[in-house]
Amino acid sequence: MILVTGGAGFIGSNFVLDWLAQSEETVINLDALTYAGNRANLASLEGDSRHIFVKGSITDFDLVARLLHEHHPRAVINFAAESHVDRSIHGPENFIHTNIVGTFRLLECVRAFWNDLREPDQQDFRFLHVSTDEVYGTLSKEASPFTEVSRYEPNSPYSASKAASDHLVRAWHHTYGLPVLTTNCSNNYGPYHFPEKLIPLMIVNALAGKPLPVYGDGMQIRDWLYVKDHCGAIRRVLEVGKPGEIYNIGGWNEKPNIEIVNTVCKLLDELRPKADGTSYASQITYVADRPGHDRRYAIDAHKIERELGWRPAETFETGIRKTVQWYLDNPEWVVRVQSGAYREWITRQYGE
Ligand code: NAD
Ligand code: DAU
Repeated sequence: MILVTGGAGFIGSNFVLDWLAQSEETVINLDALTYAGNRANLASLEGDSRHIFVKGSITDFDLVARLLHEHHPRAVINFAAESHVDRSIHGPENFIHTNIVGTFRLLECVRAFWNDLREPDQQDFRFLHVSTDEVYGTLSKEASPFTEVSRYEPNSPYSASKAASDHLVRAWHHTYGLPVLTTNCSNNYGPYHFPEKLIPLMIVNALAGKPLPVYGDGMQIRDWLYVKDHCGAIRRVLEVGKPGEIYNIGGWNEKPNIEIVNTVCKLLDELRPKADGTSYASQITYVADRPGHDRRYAIDAHKIERELGWRPAETFETGIRKTVQWYLDNPEWVVRVQSGAYREWITRQYGE
């Protein structure tokens, strides 16, 4: 039995679906179902007794304590977070509450549960904290990719809150001996990605005939990993990672944003050509830059490759094709997750 938090979100739901496709081991899925959590992502698990969904927050000490004592999981995997940088600029408080206070309360519950375990179960137990490359700040063009010993230099309210949570996890290992693992991953893309993030937003806007808003000059670089490869890496770290260690996860796929947007447009031109024969690229619109925008992220994945033998299965070309096809095949999913009020703020902030 494992306890997953945030398992109705983008990466968490992909993780739960993959886990149950490969294992008989039950998953307790604790998710607060914020705007980003969507039970429809888990619809294929309806009636499956290996999936126990609980609506609730990692900040709820009593609930988490009860779940741990009732189900006795051998591991906790913490995906639950506020995850979007633009939202953290718009309103940082939720990020402090969920990402920092939430991680703290979860750690405290897990520590109390772990303390009461028998010695062999204590040794086998794992707390895996899912984090981000954004905690390392921004890289110049010439700089080497982030390693596990790169300095923490978070620049947005989101990345600062994730950095704080990573430090708490580290401290709970060093001070209390809790067997923790931390993963810092680069930008994910794939099915069930909420259309506020670059790739799904571009697909959805393109199909709706709306502008494709590129922040600033579009030359900011992100390092892209297909979400199923991230899930595989987390499973690998959970099974053979060394407690107390950090593992950076990435697929050596650095690309400027404008190249990503052009790739999405080309794929849509091929898979769903516009009636008037023009390219979706004609919808690209340069807008104001994101405040404090990090210029470049890049992950050095040597450690997880060397020590745990992990490698991604998808190239960017195969992963992005699958992703665009998934959005073409699932228009009703998109309609259900779109929220009006937030898009109004985005329009005011960045223009049409
Ligand atoms: P997401 O926003 O799609 O999903 C977050 C999930 O957490 C949602 O289901 C939401 O309902 C749930 N949640 C929020 N607050 C909660 C709370 N208090 N208690 C319980 N559940 C709560 O995020 P994502 O993109 O799937 O990211 C998952 C994790 O991976 C986050 O910790 C994020 O920082 C990290 N991460 C994301 C990426 C990426 O590219 N998306 C890359 C690296 C790391
Ligand atoms: O690096 C890992 C991080 O990747 C995760 O920790 C975050 O949870 C996840 O949201 C993601 O953060 P980014 O800020 O990199 O992702 P986003 O999709 O918001 O933006 C990707 C890049 O595209 C970034 O440089 C900003 C730019 N962008 C984004 C949007 C939404 C645009 O140019 N236009 C847009 O409309």
